Amino acid sequence: MELIVGKSPVIERLKELVNQVVDTDLNVLICGESGVGKDLVAQTLHYKSKRGKGRLVKVNCAALPGELLESELFGYERGAFTGAVDAKKGKFELASGGTIFLDEIGDMSIALQAKLLQVLQDGAFSRVGGVKDVSVDVWVISATNHDLELDVQNGNFREDLFYRLNIIKIIVPPLRDRKEDLPILITHFLEKHGRLLGKKNVSIPEELLDIFKRYHWPGNVRELENYIRRFMVIGEAAPIITEISQRMARSSESFVEPGSWQPDDALIDSVIAGCRTEVKEKFPPLKEISKKYLAKIEKIVIEEALKRAWGNRREAAELLQISYKALSYKIKNCGVEMPSDIESGAPSHISLSDKKR
Ligand SMILES: Nc1ncnc2c1ncn2[C@@H]1O[C@H](COP(=O)(O)OP(=O)(O)O)[C@@H](O)[C@H]1O
Ligand SMILES: [Mg+2]
Repeated sequence: MELIVGKSPVIERLKELVNQVVDTDLNVLICGESGVGKDLVAQTLHYKSKRGKGRLVKVNCAALPGELLESELFGYERGAFTGAVDAKKGKFELASGGTIFLDEIGDMSIALQAKLLQVLQDGAFSRVGGVKDVSVDVWVISATNHDLELDVQNGNFREDLFYRLNIIKIIVPPLRDRKEDLPILITHFLEKHGRLLGKKNVSIPEELLDIFKRYHWPGNVRELENYIRRFMVIGEAAPIITEISQRMARSSESFVEPGSWQPDDALIDSVIAGCRTEVKEKFPPLKEISKKYLAKIEKIVIEEALKRAWGNRREAAELLQISYKALSYKIKNCGVEMPSDIESGAPSHISLSDKKR
């Protein structure tokens, strides 16, 4: 059975690529925004491959802090740390003969990246607190919503590991770039949830379909699925239409034409002027300049995204195409200010009529 629904040229190409790599055992990196279907692609790869009868073991690398993730991935020996009363197998061992799916790989700590690299090179590792080498035969599929190339440039992701994981790259495009798939996806979700909810022959009213076609889908297919499910449960389109119109109004500028945003020129100019003065006085190392001034530019862009997202960090992270965790880190450590008008109401670019709705 085909899990990935869609007939747009980009999805057809993606399915072709999936079929081509399915039995190669080459490491695959799946890239795309949250909710585009990365998990689904990983499942398809696994179940279509010769490993399909084996296990597909998923690990969310963003969900656990470094040390916990290490023992989750590689297991531990008895007495490795307080509370380790018995030895435990890690996910790599559990996946042996099958596939390991490293989700949100971009959030893995640098220290753990080093260990993972070693495993990929040697096909073996030792459990935490252990000395024995454990060999495994696993297919490594990873996924990220980060721009990993950028993370490599910024020193947040090891370049050597990136090349190891990224032998085959599968990019899953956002739903807004393949809206021709909307009808077939809607039919699919109506059937899927119709079965689950015991509702037959539900159809989507014209007005709802109409706004679906105009919407920019920041939460991608997951968001569509949620709306369809909600419509099937409540049986009313009006509240959904209102909600979507509000979201569209709130972020119209940023989503209608993603490339058209112009940052506040004066702010950017002041950053460049600061840099120019510094260079005139002395020549600081280029690395230092990049770090310092890039951080200032980042701050401007992040603050703008937060304003657009009405202070909603998750939405802002989606806009910036970074993880929620990465955004929270930047807010905490880079002096990013939350928009001041959040508590008092809507940010300035939202008109009164939007506020009232
Ligand atoms: N092309 C598709 N066809 C059918 N269902 C899809 C498709 N893309 C995504 N979905 C569904 O949307 C939801 C989110 O997809 P998921 O793979 O979890 O996204 P991601 O891992 O990229 O965040 C899941 O319920 C998934 O089954
Ligand atoms: Mg996912």
